[in-house]
Amino acid sequence: MRLEKKTDKYTSINKKNWNERAGAHFQSKDYRVKEFLSGKSTLLPLELQELGNVKGKKLLHLQCHFGLDTLSWARKGAIVTGVDFSDKAIKLANELKKKTNLSSTFICSDIPELPGKLKGKFDIVFASYGVLCWISDLAKWIEIAGSYLKRGGILYIIDGHPFRTALDYDYKRMGDIFWVECDYFHKKTPNKYVFEYSYVRIDKKLKNKINYEWQHSMSDIINPIIKNKLKIEFIHEFPFGFFNWGRMKKMRNAYWKSLHKKSIPMILSIKARKY
Ligand SMILES: C[S@@+](CC[C@H](N)C(=O)[O-])C[C@H]1O[C@@H](n2cnc3c(N)ncnc32)[C@H](O)[C@@H]1O
Repeated sequence: MRLEKKTDKYTSINKKNWNERAGAHFQSKDYRVKEFLSGKSTLLPLELQELGNVKGKKLLHLQCHFGLDTLSWARKGAIVTGVDFSDKAIKLANELKKKTNLSSTFICSDIPELPGKLKGKFDIVFASYGVLCWISDLAKWIEIAGSYLKRGGILYIIDGHPFRTALDYDYKRMGDIFWVECDYFHKKTPNKYVFEYSYVRIDKKLKNKINYEWQHSMSDIINPIIKNKLKIEFIHEFPFGFFNWGRMKKMRNAYWKSLHKKSIPMILSIKARKY
C-alpha cells in the first residue's frame, strides 16, 4: 500500500485547530465528560442500533477525538483502539482511560500514516460525526479503513450528508432558503473556514481559528467502498443533524431537528462488510 509521505499544509493547520479544540471541547458541557465519568455512554442511538452487539469484537475507531465514544464502546464489551492525529486529544483519551480503567489503546496518527504505526485486523472499523471532511484523499482513507478489516468485518461510517455539507443558509437574511455554499464535487484545494468558536459551546475564543475542509460527493464515498471489496449492506439518510447548525431544535434523543419547512438529508450512515 502506498503510504502518504508528508502531512499536507492544510492538514498541519487543521491539526493546530484540533489540538486547541480538543482542550476546549473537553471542558465543554456539550461533550458530557462528567456524565461519561459517572458511567454513562456518549454513543448516540443510530450507531448503537445500526452496529448492534459489539461484545468481544475488536473495534478500530478512526478520528476518535479524546476517546469518549471509543471508551463507550469498551463499556459495551468491545476491544477498542482509537486513532486521532491530535496529540492533545490522545493525551486526554489516555487520561480518561486511566480514570475509568477501561481497557483500550490510543494511537496518535494522521490516518494516511496509520499503516506505518498499526498492524492487525479488526471486526469493526468505526468513524463518526465529522470525520470525512478532514480528509483530502478519501479513496485512500477508505482503502486504509478496509485494510484493517478481517473477512466478514464491518466498516461503519456515520457522518454529515454530502448534500448538506455543500449547503448553508442565513435565516435572518434569507429566511428559509438554503444556498449552495461550496462545490458539491470534491476539489483538491479545500474550503477555508474561519471560526472563533466551535460546534459545541466553548469558554474562550479559539486562537487557531482557521480550518480547511474537503467536500466529498456521494460517489466519492461509495465507489472506494465497492472497490475495496466491501459489500454495502445499507446506506441510510436522515433529515436531522448531530449538532446545531442554526434554526434547529434539540430532540430528546440528542439529535437536532431542522425547523426549515422542507427536509434535506443531514446525516448519512453506511454499513459495509468485507468479503
Ligand atoms: C469532529 S471530531 C470527530 C468527532 C467524534 N465522533 C467526537 O465527537 O468525539 C474530528 C476528529 O478528527 C480528527 N482528525 C482530523 N483530521 C485528521 C486526520 N487527518 N487524521 C487523524 N485524525 C484527524 C480531529 O483531531 C478530531 O478529533
